[in-house]
Amino acid sequence: MKSKIGYRLSEIEQEAIAICYPWIFKGFQFLKPETGHELAIGSLLLGLCGGHKPWQDDPILQVNAMGLSFPNPIGMAAGFDKNALVISPLARLGFGAVEVGTVTPRPQTGNPKPRLFRLTEDGAIINRMGFNNDGINRIIARLEKIKDSKGSFKTTANIPVGVNIGINKIGADPEKDYPFLVGKVQDYADYIVLNLSSPNTPGLRDLQHPSRLRGILAAIKDQYPHHPPILVKLAPDLEEKEIEGIVETVIEAGITGLILTNTTISRPDDLQGAFRYEPGGLSGRPVRQKSTEMLARVARLSKGRLTLIGCGGIETGADVIEKITHGADFTQVYSALVYEGPGLVRRIKKEIVEILNQQGIKHISELKNIAL
Ligand SMILES: Cc1cc2nc3c(=O)[nH]c(=O)nc-3n(C[C@H](O)[C@H](O)[C@H](O)COP(=O)(O)O)c2cc1C
Repeated sequence: MKSKIGYRLSEIEQEAIAICYPWIFKGFQFLKPETGHELAIGSLLLGLCGGHKPWQDDPILQVNAMGLSFPNPIGMAAGFDKNALVISPLARLGFGAVEVGTVTPRPQTGNPKPRLFRLTEDGAIINRMGFNNDGINRIIARLEKIKDSKGSFKTTANIPVGVNIGINKIGADPEKDYPFLVGKVQDYADYIVLNLSSPNTPGLRDLQHPSRLRGILAAIKDQYPHHPPILVKLAPDLEEKEIEGIVETVIEAGITGLILTNTTISRPDDLQGAFRYEPGGLSGRPVRQKSTEMLARVARLSKGRLTLIGCGGIETGADVIEKITHGADFTQVYSALVYEGPGLVRRIKKEIVEILNQQGIKHISELKNIAL
């Protein structure tokens, strides 16, 4: 294996890295959170993630959704690879899909540091990153490099790649910016996610309300009628009535699906971590139930007319199964990767296969909606 810096690693070195890397990755959590994140991206970039053989997932995990085929139901959630730098290394960790972004029309540095906090006791993270990213043009240039002439992504495992788009903090015009971004990414994304739910961009979550959402979706359809599947990512803090309005609006607009959910601005009473009152979005274990409840609510309202991605607090195979039985077609994870490191996806897949075998279930799709 040749690393990105051109140094050819011997078989023994590769083996040593594969064995040590999960522990090195785990060690990143003792650094300042953002330094840990940068080192994780850096070492993935250098090819130090171990497991370089393409993953052979058990066919009982294979998922079809949005006209795409996913080798397993666990995707990398948005926000980890904001700049589309490590799609192939993440594929080699065993993910069934990678979502890059959130990417905005112009590059921006995000909020002042510190802006990322670990609540280790709670298995949680609070972030107020504020869409720090390189901007759409640089990200498109990176995506272009890893697509082949047939339009497929040349990632090691050839998995679907989603692009998550959002607006700049300054000078945003959502009704123009979202269509502009869809136009830019439509040839480079297997699916597109409109992020309307980050709590760290002032006014962003107001765009979830049907009056604004309808205008944005109509403008996209008008300008780019042949776009790839589009999903809207929602906050877990919406009221019942608001959820009903959003589901109606996206179905009427012909949108493919929803991602449930982004981070929450709420703070459960039993949080223990010292940083629990830091402003920003809370993710990880404390958001799991809230996200799953919202997923189930949306699944009941949409009655099979939308593709649903369950995201929030997944740590185990049983958590993935819980999302699928409550309406998810596919799932995503972020916070647990920070705590567990690169072995996470392999472990979750193993646990799912064990549960399915124990219960005599022939394929994961049999579980969909059974808890609704
Ligand atoms: C540090 C951090 C940055 C994030 N950045 C984004 C982002 O840019 N866009 C987005 O849609 N979601 C972002 N998220 C939210 C995640 O994609 C996910 O929806 C949320 O963390 C819940 O999943 P989890 O509990 O598995 O972490 C971010 C989450 C974290 C922890």
